Amino acid sequence: MERRTVVSGLGFYVPPRVVTNFDLEKMMNTSDEWIRERTGILERHWAESGVGASDLGYEAAVKAIENAGLDKNDIDFIIAATLSPDHYFPGIGLMVQAKLGLKEIGALDIRDQCSGFLYALSVADQYIRTGTYKKILLVAAELQSANLDFSDEGRDMSVLFGDGGAAMILEANDSGDGRGVLGCYLFSDGRFVSELWMDKPSSRDNPTFRVEFFQQGKFYPRMNGRTVFKNACEKMPQAVLYGLQQLGLSISNIDYLIPHQANDRISQMVGRALRLPEEKVIRNIQRYGNTTAASIPIALAEAVQNGLIKKGHLLALTAFGSGFTWGSAFIRW
Ligand code: ACO
Repeated sequence: MERRTVVSGLGFYVPPRVVTNFDLEKMMNTSDEWIRERTGILERHWAESGVGASDLGYEAAVKAIENAGLDKNDIDFIIAATLSPDHYFPGIGLMVQAKLGLKEIGALDIRDQCSGFLYALSVADQYIRTGTYKKILLVAAELQSANLDFSDEGRDMSVLFGDGGAAMILEANDSGDGRGVLGCYLFSDGRFVSELWMDKPSSRDNPTFRVEFFQQGKFYPRMNGRTVFKNACEKMPQAVLYGLQQLGLSISNIDYLIPHQANDRISQMVGRALRLPEEKVIRNIQRYGNTTAASIPIALAEAVQNGLIKKGHLLALTAFGSGFTWGSAFIRW
């Protein structure tokens, strides 16, 4: 009987402050119409100063632990995905561990940006199926709003991002009922590093932190939006089709597709490329913006909470992001 990794608890948290497109109009040279038409985003949540990604991850973790009905002391490993850690180092996994008051378990941080959740899920799946760990806390959290460029040079990115965290408890299912992670398929192409990145701080510069880098805006995230758009629309459907083929499944088997919420137009194009009816593509970017590593698990948690996703459904998850990295994962819920 094949062991599978199941999600036994799920939770998400977004900071209370809602920032609408109209609020952004007052902060930079943009308009609600431009943002809505190009991205589908209406509003996002931004944290107050003093809050870090680990705080959002912690709040989500508390909910996931409660949702799983778990004694937190039974968690034996933490995996955290973020591109916006509280500090340059160390990572946020161990900060969540300390905030939860857990024992000295291992904590692994994953740096795969918008694909970070899929990479984290894949690692967790290996640990659970091999029996290395029994109850893994997976946290994906991002605090993007603290470092956005509101000038014309950065407005293409700064309207996209939202803050948020999501968490899940993963454990083994030996019942043979088929529920759990069916497979994770990960890809990368490092030739595209500078198409979507934060150039500085860089360990190649000695000294790393220089006033002129601040003056040149090099500490802000930058992207070539069109290249990202085009590749995201190609690579996500490819990754889903690849995974289906590996699993001997077809598109008609998918109950819901949860794409990384990068831009609503990208999600719609991915759905269309796969010939999935619109109602099978879960989209919540309208209310949260792009929360990077947290976007898939927030969408998943919300859809489960709303009763959309039910036991037995086949979920296809797909992501694309900086690197470029991309991938897919399939879960029998
Ligand atoms: N408000 C108003 N105008 C803007 C804004 C803004 N926020 N941002 C850019 N513009 C302007 C540009 O300056 C440009 O003006 P110009 O014609 O005078 O030069 C005009 O709008 C059109 O810009 P384009 O870049 O051609 O717009 P495009 O249709 O490509 O849309 C967008 C831009 C929405 C960023 C798109 O390229 C995109 O979504 N790319 C994908 C990027 C993405 O999803 N990144 C997320 C991070 S990575 C990830 O999650 C996968």
